[in-house]
Amino acid sequence: MIVNPTYKDNMEKQKIILDCDPGHDDAVAIMLAGKNPAIDVLGITIVAGNQTLEKTTKNALNICQYLDLNIPVYPGCGRPMIREQMIAADIHGVTGLDGTHFEPLTKKSENKHAVQFIIDTLMASDGDITLVSTGPLTNYAMALRLEPAITTKIKQFVLMGGSYQLGNVTPAAEFNIIADADAAHVVFTLGRKIVMIGLDVTRKVLCYPSIVERMGKLNNKASKLFIDLMNFYNHSQKEVFGLDGGPLHDPVTIAYLIDQSVVTTKAMYTEIDIRSTQSYGRTNCDYFGYLKKEPNSFVGIDIDVDKFWDIIENGMKIY
Ligand code: BDR
Ligand code: CA
Repeated sequence: MIVNPTYKDNMEKQKIILDCDPGHDDAVAIMLAGKNPAIDVLGITIVAGNQTLEKTTKNALNICQYLDLNIPVYPGCGRPMIREQMIAADIHGVTGLDGTHFEPLTKKSENKHAVQFIIDTLMASDGDITLVSTGPLTNYAMALRLEPAITTKIKQFVLMGGSYQLGNVTPAAEFNIIADADAAHVVFTLGRKIVMIGLDVTRKVLCYPSIVERMGKLNNKASKLFIDLMNFYNHSQKEVFGLDGGPLHDPVTIAYLIDQSVVTTKAMYTEIDIRSTQSYGRTNCDYFGYLKKEPNSFVGIDIDVDKFWDIIENGMKIY
């Protein structure tokens, strides 16, 4: 039986590892978590996804340097566990963070591999660390294969990925899951609590020009970066999906940790499709409980849109 933590838990400073592939929306997730009094980011671990590992690592370092975030950055896996690599240059550009401008980079990444950092940090913990994922799940899955003893040390996964309805790479599959479906399979068959923030909710937080304008009024470092990020991101979302505002997927994970009431979840049994051709990478979420299997995930089914933008705005005011 998996148990959803109480709202009180959510009010305490929560230790997280943030595994990501920046990425425009990953950048906003880092921004939201980086200085938030509700969150303690123990490390940022990097995976290939939106772009190659070299580029996603550089992007994370640039974001941390620009925002004065003293958080260690650990490069991780540059390839999925088994399948061919997939990137999302159509959405995030050739750098993975097109539209941004940074000073020359002086912040260095750590020498320790992300997978080893995840293992060492979990093993030394009291089981109170949330594993956040806003990219393919390769690093976490590899850590679980390298050191299975970390399993019981994981408080929960809070991940952006999947959809119980439609995908965004194929009709069935969402990018973070299809990019390394085998890794997702490892995580979803683990038996630890998973909060799955999928496209079903993230497609409801569209960053319309009015939102960009609202955040721009803060006129600080964070809001300036936000404007650059969203101007490029919204343009590609318009080109690829015809949307007037890009879905701000990844920060929903952090917003959920800051205030759990922002996302409504439903306990479901979720299985990753790693066998079929047409629906490969789909998160098959048993919404109606047809399969009579014990739920292994809390799947986001709704989001309080106004509250979400308030959390983003308040998070940026800290800078
Ligand atoms: C996910 O894919 C990436 O392009 C975004 O950063 C987000 O994590 C959305 O499908
Ligand atoms: Ca991402």
